[in-house]
Amino acid sequence: MAKLTIKDVNLKGKKVLVRVDYNVPLDKSQNITDDTRIKESIPTLKYLIDNNCKLILCSHLGRPKGKVAPEFSLKPVAKRLSELLKQDVKFAPDCIGPEVKKLADGLKPKEILLLENLRFHSEEEKNDENFAKQLSELAEFFVQDAFGTVHRAHASTAGVNKFLPSAAGFLLEKEIKYLGGAMQNPARPFVAILGGAKVSDKIGVIENLLNKVDVILIGGAMAYTFLKAMGIQVGQSRVEEDKLDLAKALLRKSSKIRFLMPIDHIIADKIDQNANVEESQGLEIKDGWMGVDIGSMTQAIYSSVIAKAKTIVLNGPMGVFEIDKFATGTYTICKAIADSTSKGAISIIGGGDSVSAVKNAGVADKMSHISTGGGASLEFLEGKELPGIAALKDK
Ligand code: 3PG
Repeated sequence: MAKLTIKDVNLKGKKVLVRVDYNVPLDKSQNITDDTRIKESIPTLKYLIDNNCKLILCSHLGRPKGKVAPEFSLKPVAKRLSELLKQDVKFAPDCIGPEVKKLADGLKPKEILLLENLRFHSEEEKNDENFAKQLSELAEFFVQDAFGTVHRAHASTAGVNKFLPSAAGFLLEKEIKYLGGAMQNPARPFVAILGGAKVSDKIGVIENLLNKVDVILIGGAMAYTFLKAMGIQVGQSRVEEDKLDLAKALLRKSSKIRFLMPIDHIIADKIDQNANVEESQGLEIKDGWMGVDIGSMTQAIYSSVIAKAKTIVLNGPMGVFEIDKFATGTYTICKAIADSTSKGAISIIGGGDSVSAVKNAGVADKMSHISTGGGASLEFLEGKELPGIAALKDK
């Protein structure tokens, strides 16, 4: 880890502002439906508590666009965090201002104050200097642990560092260790499995990975754009017509590595639980039908490649796995990754859909690393500089 972490600095007894990513899904009654991101912040918080710090936590939730919106309040998170830590978590009605300053100043060692949603102020997303300064005035030190948000250049990710000494928390360190390790020094063969609907979402990732991986396995609807670009009949499959030239260009660039495309497909007459479903006879998809998942031969070939891999990155599902009938290919690949991991491969799962897929396949606990970042992990794989990491000091 090139950046300073909380282990490299003396934080004993300090008042610490911690940027966490508590952007968790809530149902209509404000119940948290997935608390992974809260759980993943606990090691850093426990370490700071053990060091007698006074903890001030800040996060965004949703996209309230600079306005106070009760449905985006972080209050339910304070309750859940308090249950997980088995200690009281105080909640501030705002994230800046005299009242919040008073609450922060009144903290005793080991006490925690969670601030209200940063994005209730438009200054957060504008990386407003004065807003960042006000946040910084609540504490003596800044800890960045919100991996899911480090791709944003916001006041709480890239601005506050100007006013406070800072270091990375354990979650950020873990994410960089796995994602950075794969990008810089992967055990080989290194296999990337890229799926999802659109080639356009994955251009940056494909281009960056072409120089780093040994094999790319393509799945999801974006496979049909590539196949059509190669002149193959794909029936009514979802295709990005305006990206066919781009797909051709990517295929040309990919000639130095093994760039594998599905050779058969699960096809349906509509995207619906009640659709008629068949397996294609080979590579082409007949008229009136659309590809919804990779076929059984593709599943077998991809699984055998994954079995030999030493580093595996999964980004995107192989088909419309939200519909049971179209989920087999995605789940087979998730299980193949789990098997390969049990034999020593490093597996990294990035992006919301991929995380849901490994969870639904029942193999989430078998993976080496499940990233808490959606957009952030994608931008990391694209090789971009992430502002929230760049703003931290090197060791
Ligand atoms: C995420 O959920 O990907 C992060 O919390 C970032 O959220 P954002 O896309 O609204 O900035």
